[in-house]
Amino acid sequence: MNLIDIESLNTKEIEDIILLASQFRSDVGGFNQELIYGDKKAALLFFEPSTRTKSSFQIALMNLGASYIDINPDTSSIVKGESVGDTIETLALMGVHLFIIRHSEPIISDLANQYPDLCFINAGAGAESHPTQALTDLLTIKEFNREISQMNISIIGHLDHSRVTKSFVELTKKLGCKTLRFSGLPELCTTFFDSNFGKFDPDMDSVIKDSDLVIGLRIQKERMQDILSIDHAEYVSKYQLTKERLKNAAENFLLFHPGPVNYGIEFNEEIASLENCKVSHQVANGVGLRMAVLAKLFSEQ
Ligand code: CP
Repeated sequence: MNLIDIESLNTKEIEDIILLASQFRSDVGGFNQELIYGDKKAALLFFEPSTRTKSSFQIALMNLGASYIDINPDTSSIVKGESVGDTIETLALMGVHLFIIRHSEPIISDLANQYPDLCFINAGAGAESHPTQALTDLLTIKEFNREISQMNISIIGHLDHSRVTKSFVELTKKLGCKTLRFSGLPELCTTFFDSNFGKFDPDMDSVIKDSDLVIGLRIQKERMQDILSIDHAEYVSKYQLTKERLKNAAENFLLFHPGPVNYGIEFNEEIASLENCKVSHQVANGVGLRMAVLAKLFSEQ
């Protein structure tokens, strides 16, 4: 089995992953070590930068007792022209059967088809998908005893290149939500104007109104070929999330951001001290969620 995207999971599989992650929770905070996969080996291949996803996979592997190697594409034989496929075959010959891959292109489906005896986990595919982030967000929603199907959800920011948003939208298609609304600078959200799932409105304040969950996103400069000349002051005045503007959200709303947060742009500094801000919980839950995904895949190997 692989974890390539949310679309490929059925509702029961999603619920099972969340339940397993919850069972790994420790009574004293964090997640328990369950050293049950000492015979398993994984490889991380991150072709794009990462702090949260990569580290949480590494800690999850350690918590499960599994061994892993971290292949740095810049110092591997990939720089000598070896293909990703050949790299995977080489590592498989050494006993690695699970590959955790982040890449600027959605290559993982092809790899999974090419190597049906190996396991693949998508740790972020270009602007297309980031399924373990969406599942981590679902785990965080559950941590606060909310039901995604009962929530008004708004996603604010640079939507066009957001793999986090695409996977989260897929999750709401599977599990439902009360309403799904989007807002952001229109030039950065063009593919959401006619979204047939959720409604785009450039007026952020009306989108936030009565939201039970607000998800902020950063501007992904690295994915914009032609750097738009965004007027920083205008962006902040229209789209920065502040305590004042979030007063229109529902009572006890949750505020998420997949990170890294650019304080001073999409969030102002005071946001971190808001009780509603659950960014630190999202980061911590990344470990438990990834333990659950790994345990599921290891158990099927
Ligand atoms: N949320 C997320 O993918 O963060 P990293 O890029 O730090 O892994």
